[in-house]
Amino acid sequence: MMLSTPPSPFAENITQAAQVLANASRIVCLTGAGVSAESGVATFRDAQTGLWSHFNPQQLASQAGFAADPGLVWRWYMQRLQTVEAAAPNLGHIALTQLAQLTPSFTLITQNVDDIHERAGSGNSTEGVLHIHGSITQFRCNVCGFEHVLQPFERVQALPPICRQCQQLVRPAVVWFGEALPERVSALAQRAVAQCDVMLVVGTSGVVYPVAEWPYAAQQNGATVIDVNPICTPISAMADLFLQGPGGEILPTLLEVVQQLRASN
Ligand code: OAD
Repeated sequence: MMLSTPPSPFAENITQAAQVLANASRIVCLTGAGVSAESGVATFRDAQTGLWSHFNPQQLASQAGFAADPGLVWRWYMQRLQTVEAAAPNLGHIALTQLAQLTPSFTLITQNVDDIHERAGSGNSTEGVLHIHGSITQFRCNVCGFEHVLQPFERVQALPPICRQCQQLVRPAVVWFGEALPERVSALAQRAVAQCDVMLVVGTSGVVYPVAEWPYAAQQNGATVIDVNPICTPISAMADLFLQGPGGEILPTLLEVVQQLRASN
């Protein structure tokens, strides 16, 4: 007689999550630093390796910090840019691109300022990837907002470049603490959150507002919330399904089951 092993709660969650995703017409995926961790880009809040455990966020990512020491902020972002450029998409980024191709409507909202989702092939629709905290690969004047194309020599300068429109300092086009979210991107993201039937959250601690509220808003509108994270966060606790583990392992597994379900329909 063959004894079959009962499915583990984890395998059951994967199957359920895959069913929900395979049947969804509007998916919103919300990613945070954890999705880029396996590409070698440090997260923010890890007690040992997180960026904010080594550096003071107010000094490096705020208007006050930039005014106090623009050179320090510039050199910090140039170093981060180098890390981002050296990083390659991981299996999690790639699985999200493939999942998007299987879904009628898939909006990717990221808190990450890196461009690794795009390099994995995400955001080919007109909307693109919605970078809610801006982009480290783009630059603008801190005062007039005029766009600046970064020159190779400016990367190694001790001070930020000067705006050719108003002669003020140029900065990376990221959102600093205390600053508003980019208007257009924020409106598109909030509309997608309000309309989705599934929200897939990957690699965020869920503590930075207003983005941290969006899984709750989606759930209140009837969406199923799925969270992927190696540790339990406030979002894992409120999610309908929590898939515990790294994105680079969970997302390809999830994708495989979604593909099987789609193929059998
Ligand atoms: P955090 O550093 O706060 O959280 C990263 C999350 O990723 C944690 O919950 C980790 O457990 C999880 N994680 C780590 N490795 C992972 C992996 N391999 N797969 C999946 N998850 C993993 O980063 P964010 O939540 O993105 O804001 O932070 C939000 C915002 O806070 C950032 O956008 C930044 C920061 O201050 C600004 O710069 C405005």
